Amino acid sequence: MSSQTPGIQTLGIIGGTGWLGGSIAKALLAKGVFAQGHLVISNRSGSHPLAREGAQLVTDNQALVARSGLIILAVRPEHFADLKIDASGKTVISLMAGVTAQAISKQTSAAAVIRAMPNAAVEIEQSFTPWFCFGEVDAATKSLVQRLFESVGTAAEVTQEDHIEVLSALSGTGPAFPALLLTALARQAMVAGIPADIAQLAAKNVVVHSSQLLASRDAQETLDSLIAYRGVTAAALQSLTDGQFEQQIGKALEEGAAVARKGL
Ligand SMILES: NC(=O)c1ccc[n+]([C@@H]2O[C@H](COP(=O)([O-])OP(=O)(O)OC[C@H]3O[C@@H](n4cnc5c(N)ncnc54)[C@H](OP(=O)(O)O)[C@@H]3O)[C@@H](O)[C@H]2O)c1
Repeated sequence: MSSQTPGIQTLGIIGGTGWLGGSIAKALLAKGVFAQGHLVISNRSGSHPLAREGAQLVTDNQALVARSGLIILAVRPEHFADLKIDASGKTVISLMAGVTAQAISKQTSAAAVIRAMPNAAVEIEQSFTPWFCFGEVDAATKSLVQRLFESVGTAAEVTQEDHIEVLSALSGTGPAFPALLLTALARQAMVAGIPADIAQLAAKNVVVHSSQLLASRDAQETLDSLIAYRGVTAAALQSLTDGQFEQQIGKALEEGAAVARKGL
């Protein structure tokens, strides 16, 4: 497979050696989404193992822009201000949390900006990536963007930029909510007298392994059938419900989204 999109033979990833940019570059190379020699990545040091795996590594971001039909910005938000690129006439995809499409358009002069919000699971090609278009993006480019993010998991277009801010606090957090649940379960098992190694195994089983059943089952139906036993599981879940669990989740999403809206 390689990009058949008119005018987009080459992809450039600014910050293409970082956690997200590097994982995306690696998956695109492995899957041949861009033909050999048509993936350009940049960082400030000019060195990275990806340069030996088929990506062209440069330090000149403007040279990357000149060679690329589509550009991904995978730098941290705090490094964006120093990025001096002129992407006039091009489409720029930003992975940055908390930087609006308007601000990216203004600073880069890009013809169109796509804000995408993957998560750390790009590393294992299991990210969910919502993306939003600002400005005119043709159907062929949209299809390429979808394919590009499907190379590291699943993806979907959203029609409001604010959905990106909310989803930054949800799927953008990747393993954060499960990690919090896992550590809380393990710690509370220890409080109840379970040895630390057993507590870790039990909690990890619940969060990482047992939860894989949900890949092929509806979550609400699963809950309903477990609650229907009216036993141990029902009592434990009821306690969380009584403790306003869902309201707490809503508050967490709102607080995260508020930071994304304010800008980082
Ligand atoms: N990590 C996540 O879970 C996550 C989730 C959702 C969204 N995001 C967003 O994704 C973006 C990248 O995050 P990350 O975790 O992948 O960061 P990261 O690992 O720190 O990667 C950033 C990359 O940018 C490069 N870089 C910095 N300044 C540069 C410049 N002027 N020109 C070219 N390259 C430059 C860095 O390389 P050098 O230092 O060698 O230059 C590094 O390779 C962030 O904006 C973040 O908001 C991250």
